Amino acid sequence: MKRLVLLLSAVALLSAEGVTLRIAGPSTAVGGIGYWVKQKAEEWARATGNRIEYIDTPAETDARLALFQQYWAAHSPDVDVYTIDVIWPGIAAPHALDLLPYFSEATLDSFFPAYVNNNTVRGKLVAIPFYADAGLLYYRTDLLEKYGYPGPPETWDELEQMAQRIQEGERAAGNPDFWGFVWQGKRYEGLTCDALEWLVSHGGGTILDSTGRVTVNNPRAVAAVARARRWIGWITPPGVTNYAEEDSRNVWQTGNAAFMRNWPYAYNLGNQPDSPIRGRFRVTVLPRDTSALGRHAATLGGWQLMVSRYSRHPEEAVALVRYLTSYKLQRERSLELSLLPTRPAVYRDPEVLRVRPWFRDVLKVLENAVARPSTVAGARYNRVSQAFYSAVHRALTGEATPRDALRDAERRLKRILRR
Ligand code: GLC
Repeated sequence: MKRLVLLLSAVALLSAEGVTLRIAGPSTAVGGIGYWVKQKAEEWARATGNRIEYIDTPAETDARLALFQQYWAAHSPDVDVYTIDVIWPGIAAPHALDLLPYFSEATLDSFFPAYVNNNTVRGKLVAIPFYADAGLLYYRTDLLEKYGYPGPPETWDELEQMAQRIQEGERAAGNPDFWGFVWQGKRYEGLTCDALEWLVSHGGGTILDSTGRVTVNNPRAVAAVARARRWIGWITPPGVTNYAEEDSRNVWQTGNAAFMRNWPYAYNLGNQPDSPIRGRFRVTVLPRDTSALGRHAATLGGWQLMVSRYSRHPEEAVALVRYLTSYKLQRERSLELSLLPTRPAVYRDPEVLRVRPWFRDVLKVLENAVARPSTVAGARYNRVSQAFYSAVHRALTGEATPRDALRDAERRLKRILRR
């Protein structure tokens, strides 16, 4: 009895001494992930006698980076764990605790190698892969059937024909707000993701090649951007030049679009009990151009967990990251939300596959996904992407022709990379 009392008071003492960790997680405004992370972190804290303060962050990646850069510039200890975008390791590396000494080789091998490599900057393991992302084509199965299409489009030409027909039909049937195809055309990082898919699906390169050479100005890339420009006002609402992910999802989920380009998070939301399109859509690879160089392309996205180099509690912060990226949690998350796991084994879990049968196909999309040129651009990636999406945006709004816009992007990119 005495021993038990002693033990209990030791536990009480330890928990009284626990630390407060601050985690800057995903936005609680979008799709449940923010609350999920908050809840799981709090669970971990209760079990380990620590405390969590959740720092909510802006939904859009550019705004989130701007916020994090303020903490980093100040070498601030106020945030222990950051959720960082797959494109930021080069930017975040100087402010990250090297996680390599904390994770065994076997553990690291259980993640997708592409992400672990992406997160390793000059030998430093900057972050652990948290959730994976890839651009997908969402399509309405009920409408395809209604208009006599046996399956989703293979090529952009097919998508355009289907989108136009369905749009005409639905408008004639009394829905003036109906559009064929929605996507992300706002002047921000999301546009780089969509436009990279257009480029690669037309054989137009990846903005920079793997050696850092600027390849953005070529006839296939111009044709790709010109195609997207034609969609606007035809099968895509003119407002798209102001659409981020959530804006396109709003049109899609109210039942006002036949096709949508978006990330996997939108799947679970579209199937919520109050969703008008619940059970009426599927996902597949994005279309390709008909030319020999065209291929199906998905931009690789995803989020990683990083421990700040300025954290006062690195041991506890690493333990939290270990927990949040564990098999157990990725499995649980897969059952609750439609964010993609970063551990291939979760895609083989029978229960996960029962609830998310489409994960099987998504795995192939993910394995063939195209990375933005963030490894080669390193800390300059943000400026590279800004130059690219600004140019594409000017082409979409008609401020410049696609050819002039990409020629201008080439000039700017060369200047950014020279310095
Ligand atoms: C998603 C992706 C991320 C990308 C962002 C762009 O969050 O996971 O990699 O940068 O979308 O909006």
